[in-house]
Amino acid sequence: MSAPIRSRRTSVADIKALKGVRPIVSLTAYTAPMAALLDPHVDFLLIGDSLGMVVYGFDTTLPVTLDLMIAHGAAVVRGSSTSLVVVDMPFGSYQESREQAFRSASRVLAETGAQAVKLEGGEEMGDTIRFLTERGVPVLGHIGLTPQMVNVYGGYKTQGRNQFQAAKIKADARTVAEAGAFAFVLEGTMEPLAREITIEAPIPVIGIGASPQCDGQILVSEDMLGLYNEFIPRHVKRFADLGAEVSKAAAAYAEEVKARSFPGLEHTFQPKA
Ligand code: KIV
Repeated sequence: MSAPIRSRRTSVADIKALKGVRPIVSLTAYTAPMAALLDPHVDFLLIGDSLGMVVYGFDTTLPVTLDLMIAHGAAVVRGSSTSLVVVDMPFGSYQESREQAFRSASRVLAETGAQAVKLEGGEEMGDTIRFLTERGVPVLGHIGLTPQMVNVYGGYKTQGRNQFQAAKIKADARTVAEAGAFAFVLEGTMEPLAREITIEAPIPVIGIGASPQCDGQILVSEDMLGLYNEFIPRHVKRFADLGAEVSKAAAAYAEEVKARSFPGLEHTFQPKA
């Protein structure tokens, strides 16, 4: 029997209810056409601040602004109809205070039509997550390797390798869940830590480079489609090589155009040899 067709958007309550029922599927999307392609296949779409790297060519996610996230968030909402849509809070838009976080998050929800925001951080963000969720802003947490901390880590390094880091990530998971997040992303860590956290957490744990046994998985779409080659994280499995396809199509187009003649223009236009 085929899966039932969803007639309304998935809600944060639907995502929460999937823990222990079936794996949750998520991908990033940044544009309306890509959102439309991915929408039927995922439970939620994330407008990740990874767009700074995979769309805008920055070295890190740090230069991404709130206005940029709002523009792309609105596009993804327009392009999708059934997935939950979550917008990442960019660096500097929420860390200063819970009030600053609420101002930024309320703009995101009001101006994009998305249903939730994601923010990075564990114990240090507990207060902020509680402040937001108690005021109508559903929050997806993000712990483990948090890319906005790249300058503190000194690179994108797997987290949880030693006892101290592992204890910190476990405490982060507890804080984020207790503060009211509906789920959290667990990035760049390893077994058995990821599995232990997934078993212990009362809310869904969405893994990326963490463990196939998390409650769900998320990937950056450009990574899994072969559209971004600057930095390929170890966990990424390629499901298509669209980069090569684009290159082949552009070459075929260029060849066809260059082979055209210009009847009547021979006297005014001298093509390069
Ligand atoms: O920015 C992003 O795309 C993310 C995902 C990798 C979880 O945070």
